[in-house]
Amino acid sequence: MMQKAKVRKKRVITEDNNILRFSRLGKFSESAARYTSSIHLDKKLLPAVVAINSAHVVMLLKRELIAKDVAREILSSLRELPPNLEMKDELEDVHMNVENFVIEKTGKEIGGMMNFGKSRNDQVATALRFALRDELLLLGKEIVEFQKSLLFQARRHSSTIMPGYTHLQRGQPVTLGHHLLCYFDELERDFERLLSCYQRVNKSPMGAGALASTSLPISRQTVAKLLGFDSFVENSLDAVSSRDFATEAIYLCSQVMNDLSRLAEEIVLWSSKEFSFVEVPDEYASTSSMMPQKKNPVVAEITRAKASQVIADLTSSLGIMKALPLSYNLDLQELSSNLWSATERTISTLDVFGKMLKGIIFNPKAMFEAVKHDDSLFATDIADHLVQKYKLSFREAHNRVGSLMRAIYSRREEKTKKNNNKKKKASSPPTSSIESLTTEEIRSILRVDVTKDEISRLLDPETGLAKKKKVLGSPNPDLVRKACNERLEKKLRSHLNSLSKLENRLAKSRAILDREIKQVLRSS
Ligand code: ARG
Repeated sequence: MMQKAKVRKKRVITEDNNILRFSRLGKFSESAARYTSSIHLDKKLLPAVVAINSAHVVMLLKRELIAKDVAREILSSLRELPPNLEMKDELEDVHMNVENFVIEKTGKEIGGMMNFGKSRNDQVATALRFALRDELLLLGKEIVEFQKSLLFQARRHSSTIMPGYTHLQRGQPVTLGHHLLCYFDELERDFERLLSCYQRVNKSPMGAGALASTSLPISRQTVAKLLGFDSFVENSLDAVSSRDFATEAIYLCSQVMNDLSRLAEEIVLWSSKEFSFVEVPDEYASTSSMMPQKKNPVVAEITRAKASQVIADLTSSLGIMKALPLSYNLDLQELSSNLWSATERTISTLDVFGKMLKGIIFNPKAMFEAVKHDDSLFATDIADHLVQKYKLSFREAHNRVGSLMRAIYSRREEKTKKNNNKKKKASSPPTSSIESLTTEEIRSILRVDVTKDEISRLLDPETGLAKKKKVLGSPNPDLVRKACNERLEKKLRSHLNSLSKLENRLAKSRAILDREIKQVLRSS
């Protein structure tokens, strides 16, 4: 006997059963429905929308605005809602699709009570904040992980000496550890921004209704509490129409991406043969399909580009907001795509780049060579010495050392020219060295009775950094090590602690809501 396959009929949304439109409007053009729908953005909001509806229904029951059996049926249908609910464009968004699901399960008499005292406008603002909280916690964890990678490398290279740059011209010697800790501190401020942003995100707009709240005696506090919010957004117009909580989060992402992009740029630069300061691990490099020798720092390149995309998300979202009259306008819907693309790009960049950074191979030898062959990096130290020992004014010392540098550079140029004329291959490129001048020349330029030894002693970067640079926050290797061990390690622990406290609070509120729902479901 042929078994008849049970085919579950998919319900088609028509003019007559579209719960939103049927009494007021005729058929929606298919292309307009697709064009204006937010369903492609709403998948992320589904768990939030289910939680919000559940909390709202629990509150309605507590306030005796709906009967117990109505609450029970709605809550039980919300529990059955599949996490991959198939949403229909004709119903515009996740909010109407969820309501439609409940009405299909329970009938209009019962399911139709779910939207009593609320609107999609307060609901979407709440759902965005609800989902953004999780995203911010994830972002926070990724920032800390990235900082760990920086700390790992900074410790390893606390005394690795390299040229420090301004205007991308060699300035003074620094330690690589110090250079990396600069990025650590930038991310430190980003983390502070994140915690502060979280506070403003963690407020519930529920109860603001479409724009003017509701005449029903609902409790905004109860819903806020059940959803784990610290409090609610008081002014109803503000609650439905403001998105500064989102633009602020996008700004946070842009700032993080900007910080990472600067480091990415350095990695791209430093991995060129011209610098040869770093080699990226194979797992994070790519090659050319034509030039077999290539090893391309692709993760750093993509980071630079993604930083621009996140900045575009920020300008786009501020642009969407800037001329909107109060209160809710559907323009706001498009800002959600900026929000999620900014957080997703930033989280994935922190993750992949952070892992690459941990495995990156720095080349201390090449860095040191660059310092060794360039005495100009010590020009400031020589000037300081003239001030301290020969009591010159700093400007005077600066001018005299400037002349010394000019003399060194022209000696270097002469040497290069000579080599070129003789067509002689130089064994190594001419260096910018004080050695190229005689003691007499040095004395006559500096106009003090220095000895060559005295100057040579100033040219030792290790002594210069370790013994002379005692000022707090300088690149001194001891200070770098101290910062890593005493200050920064502690900061990371405290950040993880702050994040887990916030997570626990959310878990607690989820448990409370769950208990409340179960209580209603068990009651008869
Ligand atoms: N899909 C909308 C959004 O993401 C939800 C609110 C729609 N409200 C309305 N009145 N059409 O913003």
